Amino acid sequence: MVKAAVFGYGTVGSGIVEVIMTNRQLITDRTGEDVDIKYILDLRDFPGDPYETKIVHDVETILNDPEITVIAEAMGGIEPAYTFTKRALSAGKSVCTSNKELVEKHGAELCTLAKENSCNYLFEASVGGGIPLLRTIVTSLTADHIDAVTGILNGTTNYILTKMAREGSEFDTVLKEAQEKGYAERNPEADVEGHDAGRKITILASLVTGKNADYEDVYTEGITGITTADFAYAKAMGRVIRLLGIYRELDGKYFAYVAPAMIDDQNPLYSVSDVFNGVLVHGNMVGDTMFYGAGAGKLPTASAVAGDVVDCVRAGKKTLPGGWSMEKLPLTDHKALEKSFFIRVTDDKVSEVEKIFGQCRQVDAGIAGEKGFLTGRMDENTFEEKAGQLGGYISRIRVED
Ligand code: HSE
Repeated sequence: MVKAAVFGYGTVGSGIVEVIMTNRQLITDRTGEDVDIKYILDLRDFPGDPYETKIVHDVETILNDPEITVIAEAMGGIEPAYTFTKRALSAGKSVCTSNKELVEKHGAELCTLAKENSCNYLFEASVGGGIPLLRTIVTSLTADHIDAVTGILNGTTNYILTKMAREGSEFDTVLKEAQEKGYAERNPEADVEGHDAGRKITILASLVTGKNADYEDVYTEGITGITTADFAYAKAMGRVIRLLGIYRELDGKYFAYVAPAMIDDQNPLYSVSDVFNGVLVHGNMVGDTMFYGAGAGKLPTASAVAGDVVDCVRAGKKTLPGGWSMEKLPLTDHKALEKSFFIRVTDDKVSEVEKIFGQCRQVDAGIAGEKGFLTGRMDENTFEEKAGQLGGYISRIRVED
């Protein structure tokens, strides 16, 4: 019998309890161990809840109980989750989490601590929710050198972009509707400004390089500036607009950034719509692999955390592969990467565009007083220099082919 505890009985925490208790027999059949949840840590009481007798308010009860070998942390945020996780790992108790803020900020230290104490710090649910992504990278793709990751890593913004394209509605209208339906937070900044996707691509960059990427070094641009006019041009070109988290290794340099991009139907991420996530992982031997699924939500996220709990049970005192060292990953400015750009200009600038940018594809979306252009490939510094010569533009969106 393995005794586990859950930190936090909110949406994800209660989902973890539901997954483990619903599939308890199946987990026993697969692991040869009966996994029982002995405690649930929360400040609140839950009268009438089927697991109300398991609720404890003092973390010491769990940390000082030698029977507890695995903890699922679903508190979110840095503190007190960081302190509790450090204490649990120091006591040789494995910790599994969906807490991307904590993994991004302290993942290197917590993975090292787990190794030193013959236990595990696993965080499958922190990127891509229920998609089996991180474990696949460190196990199935372990013989590959991963040089590119491109992901739709945020369900809220993908939902908003999908709705804007389908309904021709403006950002603010769709955001309000998403908030009413519970698909967007009341304070949507972390999602719509790209911070959430930024943390996730930071974790992926750390995982694939084995070095510690810093979120502060990752450029993030959100979707608040995308308008219905941009979608009209995207449609005219047979493209969609997606918020992409991008990691690249090129000529010994590493890049990580988040920004909206236009993609065409040749890109496997083209059909990833609504709240879903999709992640393209390129290995030097395997080529492109694609992962798709629910990037958020109670049971998908809980399923990934529960999967980590089961892995910890199977591993016993053995530390599983994954994690990264404290060595800093040097990230190069994303502006050095070459790509095409979509640019909207007023009619008076149309004749200048090809003189400055070279051969472009002109796009007419039927919007009075302006035209769109798809440029050839150039790095972003060059693009900005040329845009300066043009004397400004209405808007620009990067193009990922
Ligand atoms: N706000 C996040 C999203 C939740 O929309 O994808 C999952 O990390």
